[in-house]
Amino acid sequence: MVLSRFISSTREVPDSAEVPQHIAIVMDGNGRWAKKRFLPRVAGHKRGVETVRAVVRRCIDRGVRHLTLFAFSSENWRRPQDEVSFLMNLFLQALKDEVARLHKNNIRLRIIGDLSRFNADLVAAIREAEATTVGNTALTLSIAANYGGRWDILQAMNRMVAEHPAKAGSYGEEDLAPYLSMADSPEPDLFIRTGGEQRVSNFLLWQLAYAEFYFTDRLWPDFDDAAFDEAIASYQKRERRYGRTSEQLVPSPGEHA
Ligand code: IPE
Ligand code: IPE
Ligand code: MG
Repeated sequence: MVLSRFISSTREVPDSAEVPQHIAIVMDGNGRWAKKRFLPRVAGHKRGVETVRAVVRRCIDRGVRHLTLFAFSSENWRRPQDEVSFLMNLFLQALKDEVARLHKNNIRLRIIGDLSRFNADLVAAIREAEATTVGNTALTLSIAANYGGRWDILQAMNRMVAEHPAKAGSYGEEDLAPYLSMADSPEPDLFIRTGGEQRVSNFLLWQLAYAEFYFTDRLWPDFDDAAFDEAIASYQKRERRYGRTSEQLVPSPGEHA
């Protein structure tokens, strides 16, 4: 079994860097962006892909090492069939168009989520893109597709129990961690949701335990570099206590925090 290389925020206090090392984003508001312009909702999704490109670039400029984007939730199948198909095609197209550029920029691409509902073409394109970029180190870009936080915890639990049945009754976090979708990344430091809603919508339920939350009314297609920088500036004002008191964060003279 591979042990997770990353610190669990509930077992130890992680170091906090000036710039968040892992940002997780719920990219919301594409439909409303389009509606405001009397365009079909899907025009907003198309425009949203451009924001993804810009945000990836900005992450690299700012020194963010992991970016996780919520592209399609396990509940988004409830949308009208034509919107779901459009999103699937857009996803496949974007994969095909972007992989070479991601690879050239030393970006590792990963798709997290339950791929069993996707068609074979899409799964093949995903596997190929992941294999091509697996050695890249500038940024790990994880796209959550047919992802649900509850699904993630359950799939991890089921695999853990199947592989370690003898430990029943005494599993710890360290047993579960390697099976979670994001085992290859530290926990998110900063959670951003655009589009004005203030909810998690079943995104990374386990991994967000100590993330800082940032909500903005800006719709995803309007989330530009300045808006991104504002989110980081807000993060930089936060005091990450992880259960401790403020006083404990201030090192006394001659002592390290
Ligand atoms: C987010 O934008 C993108 C996806 C969920 C795929 P929405 O499509 O949810 O946009 P709004 O919330 O309807 O404006
Ligand atoms: C969350 O957005 C999922 C993604 C951004 C992919 P939704 O628009 O689906 O969330 P709800 O339905 O408003 O909670
Ligand atoms: Mg929405």
